[in-house]
This record gives sequence, C-alpha cells and structure tokens, in this order.
Amino acid sequence: MGNTEWGFSTEQVHAGIRPDGGHGARITPVYLSNGFLFDDFDQARERFAGESEGYYYTRYGNPTIAAVERKLAGLEHGVDALAVASGQAALTIAFLTLLKQGDHVVSARSIYEGTRGLLREDFARFGITATFATDPNDAEALAAAFQPNTKAVFIETIPNPRNDVPDLELVTRVAHEHGVPVIVDNTLGTPFHIRPIEHGADLVVHSTSKFLSGHGSAIGGAIVDSGSKYLTDAFADGHTVNDETFTQKARSLAGRFGPTLSPFNAFLLQHGIETLSLRMREQSGNALKVAQWLESRPEVASIDYSGLDSSPYHANAERYLENGYGAVFAFTLRGGLPAAEALINGVTLWSRMTHLGDVRSLILHPASTTHIHLTAAELAENGIEPGTIRLSVGIEDVSDLIADLEQALVAD
Ligand SMILES: Cc1ncc(COP(=O)(O)O)c(C=O)c1O
Repeated sequence: MGNTEWGFSTEQVHAGIRPDGGHGARITPVYLSNGFLFDDFDQARERFAGESEGYYYTRYGNPTIAAVERKLAGLEHGVDALAVASGQAALTIAFLTLLKQGDHVVSARSIYEGTRGLLREDFARFGITATFATDPNDAEALAAAFQPNTKAVFIETIPNPRNDVPDLELVTRVAHEHGVPVIVDNTLGTPFHIRPIEHGADLVVHSTSKFLSGHGSAIGGAIVDSGSKYLTDAFADGHTVNDETFTQKARSLAGRFGPTLSPFNAFLLQHGIETLSLRMREQSGNALKVAQWLESRPEVASIDYSGLDSSPYHANAERYLENGYGAVFAFTLRGGLPAAEALINGVTLWSRMTHLGDVRSLILHPASTTHIHLTAAELAENGIEPGTIRLSVGIEDVSDLIADLEQALVAD
C-alpha cells in the first residue's frame, strides 16, 4: 500500500496512488455511479463471486473510495482498509465484524462519549456487553476486566477529551495474552503522531471527518486492517463462512448494514489527507502554546493536555507520540459553570461547535452538550466538571487564538 521507507509527507501524497485507468487522470476522479457495467454474463458472475477484480455496486466498492482506502492503509502501515460513512459507522462495523451475541468487550473508560454510549447502551440491546477499565495502564486491573467471553479490547490513542494517553504496548500485550485483538481509535492521534499498528494494535479506526479531512465538510470513517492473526483467530469460532480476511468480512458486513461513504466525500477526504502533516504540525504546535498559556492563568484549575510536563500522561505521550501531542484537549475553570458559560459566550474567533480536527479552532462545554445525558456521578467518573471546556485548536495565528480566549476570560 505504502512505502515504509518514505517520510510521512511523501507518503501522505503518494501512498496508494495508482494511475487512473483510461484517461490518465492524476487524481482519482469522483465516480458518482451507483453501479458498474459488466462486459458479459461471466464477468457479472465473477464479480459477485469475488473471482475477478473490479466493481459492481458502490455499496461494496467504488474506485474513488478504493483510492482513499489504499491511501489510509498505506499511511497507517496496514495491509488493507475499509472506508465507511462516518467514524461511528467505522466503530460499529469494526466491532460487529469481530463480535456476536454473547460476546464481551474490554474498553478503556476514557473514550469518546458516542463510542461509550454505543458499547454501553446500543450493543447491550443485542447481547454484546462491555466492561470499562478505569486505568488501562494498570496491567493487573486491565487483566481483571477480562471474561471468558471477551473478544476485543478498545482504546483511543489520545482519548477525547481527557488526553489520558494509554500505554499502548501494555494494552496490546495483555489483550494478546488473552488471545484477543485490540481496536484502536486513532482519530485524535492521526498517523502523523502515532501509527498504532507499529505498537501491536490489530485494527485502527478513524473518524475521517476530523483531522484526516481537516476541512470539516465531509463526514466519513475508516477501519485499517493490520492483517494480524488475532483478527483471523477471532473468526475461528464459526461465525464466518470461510477464510476471508478481516477487511473482506467487514466489507460484506458494511455492504449489508449499508453505511456507504459517498464517493464525493471520499474525494474530499483524499484531498484533506494530502496536507495532513502541514496542518497537524501547526495545530499541535498551537495547541501546546494555548495549553501552556492556560497553565499560567489564575482562572484555570487544571488542564488535560498530554503535551504538558505537568500531565500524568506526559511520559506515555513522550513514548508514543511523534511530532507533537495532538490538538484536542480539555481544561477546567475554577469558576465552574458560570465561568464556562461566560467563556463560551465571550469568544469571537473560536467557533462554538461540536466537531474537532478542523482547520478552524473550536470550543465546546462537554457537560451541557456531548455529556448532557450523564448523571453527576458519571460526569465525575469521566472527569467532566461543570467548568470543563474542550478545545480543538486550528491553524490560525496562535496569538489571535490566545487573545480571544484572554478577552473572554477577563470579561467574566
Ligand atoms: C475519537 C472519536 N471517534 C469517533 C468519533 C465519531 O466520528 P463521526 O462523527 O465521524 O461519526 C468521534 C467524533 O467526535 C471521535 O471524537
């Protein structure tokens, strides 16, 4: 897919690129076609049987989507990838390809709230349960969360929004000792900062709506397959029909469940990825400066940014993250809810939005938005306080970003 000897910036432009057949287009065009013609009776049968390369129906594959799948597999140093309609669809398909009714997942507690809800509420309705390990960096506590029916472990490289970066190699070691694969959500890390497969992860999941696109105009998701034996072993209990790879199995499941990525969004994603390193370098650099500035402010009680020396997760961040520490983090104001409300209402440059990884800087109050359905005890367990604010730092001049936060803090 890629060329592991290339530098990241070369890879992001050239990985997975194949000259488009026919007209020699430099960029794979947008194939907005639901179906593809068969030359004859035999070719139709071969396509459905998976005996010949080529496309038949966009829900199962499309040249524009395939181009971005090859690029993502290349960038994450995986063997294959599947792109779907959103990050949530990618997580759903990754889990459902591996799991069946009666199975169990061990997940880190500190993860994106949408994924926690999926595991805790939606999958539970279908007989798939989850245990949330409080500290995935504690090997004994993590091992204690396993059950005989545990079939997968789930973590995020840079947890949204707490930044409690896990010890990835410890987690993969414990999971593999139990014979189960590790699914890693690398949405906030991006392959520019970390390639989880190089640390033992079996599957990498992305919300491509975020940093990979960067422009904030196309929702999408992807699963990158490492080809590891823990994935194929997961099918050994008979819930697959033959010796398909993980991605083949996931592609047919996604085809039936139906969360197809629009070829147009795949095209926009491909353009986003080509400038990932340029944006991430700026955004993560800006995030560090904003976090350092917040640390100097009397209004701020605490900051959850793994790039700060004061973070308890700085050692893990130093060990696993390259070229910076990401651009999404949370901090908590001493003044609680009124101070949070005043800051959110007072900014004029930061966008009040529930999105992240955009070139624009975004600000959100988790307790009244993404985490609004949690009880007070659950909020406390997840480190979300009334004064907690989440930032996604963009590419603007950092002095402007800080000035805007400062005028809103002082106005309070
Ligand atoms: C870490 C993480 N994973 C997955 C998702 C879901 O992605 P999407 O919005 O593309 O469905 C999000 C969304 O914020 C996220 O932050």
